[in-house]
Amino acid sequence: MTCKSNKELQNIVNEVRPLTKEGMVADYIPALAKATKNDLSVAIYETNNNCLYAGSYLKNFTLQSISKVLVLALALQDRGVEYVFDRVGMEPTGDPFNSISKLETSIPSKPLNPMINAGALAVTNMIRGESEAEKWNRIISFVKCLSNKKNLSYDTEVAASELETAWLNRSLCYFMKQHNVIDGDIEELMMVYTKQCAIEMNCFELARIGAVFALNGLDPETGERLIPIHIARICKTFMVTCGMYNASGEFAIKVGIPAKSGVAGGILAVVPEKYGIGIFGPSLDKKGNSIAGIKLLEILAQQYDFSIF
Ligand code: DON
Repeated sequence: MTCKSNKELQNIVNEVRPLTKEGMVADYIPALAKATKNDLSVAIYETNNNCLYAGSYLKNFTLQSISKVLVLALALQDRGVEYVFDRVGMEPTGDPFNSISKLETSIPSKPLNPMINAGALAVTNMIRGESEAEKWNRIISFVKCLSNKKNLSYDTEVAASELETAWLNRSLCYFMKQHNVIDGDIEELMMVYTKQCAIEMNCFELARIGAVFALNGLDPETGERLIPIHIARICKTFMVTCGMYNASGEFAIKVGIPAKSGVAGGILAVVPEKYGIGIFGPSLDKKGNSIAGIKLLEILAQQYDFSIF
């Protein structure tokens, strides 16, 4: 499978690239601050295995919060729907992704959903495996199948940088341990979580994962089932209700498709049955979403009538 450069798509990228000046690259994970602010690339993977791109689409970036939806798909397979949602809720928060406040005020004390940091940490804690290494191997093998990237790995510098500075995420974990939402060793959990966030790929490989979701869990090339249909549906629903954090409502109105963003500037978007879309644009708006990436999706959604609503 190769991806072809597309002029029309490149015109849209050129049109929205100036917006990157108005955002900021994430710097609370120090290694992410090295990103090139005006980078912008997009790949659209059609479920019939055509692919179009614009921008430097082979440039790698780390998944960050996009990994949350993938690890959720694995945890649901490992533990079943009931076990997972006994410990993590299904409701949007309206708060920033790393907020701690609702953990204390929600009764029972469990994270509101798996797309915020607290919920994602709880979900990573559910992955089966005797050791941290086994859990990590299961996550990376699963994402390898979804992306079809044989040498998929993680950015060790970004993972180490987050591990050294993730005091707020550690706080969320200790709070949840006190309330029996998670168990086990917090540092081991932090190691798996920071590695999963640092998984590295380009927008073509990300778009391919989108195509798997567009097909409700089927591999677009082999037709093999990679995710059970009911789990693919749950993941896409969370992408609609919580995927763009506290900007999910506006995104649903302006774009209207399941999507998940990460602070490194990636966006995974899904047009059911038709396309997986991968975007990389590290300049972020105030809520932590790729500023030019969102605009690009708004324009595409209007031109090609993407909205599922
Ligand atoms: O846990 C964190 O803060 C990061 N590893 C991921 C956060 C993230 O991508 C939120 N995105 N918008």
